[in-house]
Amino acid sequence: MKALITGATSGIGKAIAAEFSKRGISLILTGRNVNALQQLQHTLPVPVEIIALNLSENQAPFQLYEFCQGKHVDILVNNAGFGVYGRFSETALEEELELIQVNIRAVHILTKLFLQEFEKRGSGKILNVASSAGFLTGPLFSSYYASKNYVLRLSLAIAEELRRKKSRVSISVLCPGPVQTGFNDRAGVEFRVKALSPESVAREAVFGLLTGKRIIIPGMMIRAGIAVSHMIPEELLARILYHAQAAKNPQQGLQENIDKHRTTHDHTENHFKIFNNFFMQNTK
Ligand SMILES: NC(=O)c1ccc[n+]([C@@H]2O[C@H](COP(=O)([O-])OP(=O)(O)OC[C@H]3O[C@@H](n4cnc5c(N)ncnc54)[C@H](OP(=O)(O)O)[C@@H]3O)[C@@H](O)[C@H]2O)c1
Repeated sequence: MKALITGATSGIGKAIAAEFSKRGISLILTGRNVNALQQLQHTLPVPVEIIALNLSENQAPFQLYEFCQGKHVDILVNNAGFGVYGRFSETALEEELELIQVNIRAVHILTKLFLQEFEKRGSGKILNVASSAGFLTGPLFSSYYASKNYVLRLSLAIAEELRRKKSRVSISVLCPGPVQTGFNDRAGVEFRVKALSPESVAREAVFGLLTGKRIIIPGMMIRAGIAVSHMIPEELLARILYHAQAAKNPQQGLQENIDKHRTTHDHTENHFKIFNNFFMQNTK
């Protein structure tokens, strides 16, 4: 078997590559960091091909698909992604357009091209990496949360189409909560809670993918938190999440802003504490 993984140079993608290699699955790995790709090629105990690409460039997803032609890819993992933090009116448009290219456009193109190939062949598996953010509205992380909503809904819709056709091709979507990776550094934030290791997330992801699970949510408490979030009215949930996100970067003064405007009638902070205790803290 052979798997293609985007964003394989660090974090969850790198851990998924290691997990596949333990199962003897050959790899095609991509990312922008050539040194990291070469290191993986030399250290992983399976045949590894590498291709350095910037998926925010228009042609890159097509170049990647072209590179894979004739190589019989059995598994596609769309993992590359990043977040942009801050108020929507203040964040850099260029950076967000890049986010849309990587988190949405590249995932969309690769999913379609490989799905068509897999359907023709009558076999193949796709794992799209969304996030627990895919179930939520994310003030201060608006484009990132919106991008993960897209990935989640697209994947679930395709999964239902495949089920209806009784297809032997499957698509799974991975929705982790906080994971200890380079994600935060790039977004310029810090988790306020203990995060899962990329290795444990990769183990659940690969097991879920290979057993044909539709939605993979690593960690029991994150699964419970998502279930609870479905019962909270959308507007209240957005308020709670504003607090959660503002706390991730105190330097930006977004938390102070909340404190300044809080009134004795504003119970959002209390709701946040309850939600945070249940949903976030328990990921420790
Ligand atoms: N960490 C979390 O808490 C968390 C939670 C839920 C979901 N996720 C999702 O998990 C996925 C992996 O993120 P991570 O947490 O493992 O973060 P990470 O360590 O920063 O890894 C991100 C990966 O994406 C690649 N990438 C970023 N921009 C790219 C571009 N323009 N072109 C090609 N590759 C690019 C990076 O490779 P190069 O730098 O070599 O290009 C890197 O391999 C993302 O989709 C993220 O949204 C993360």
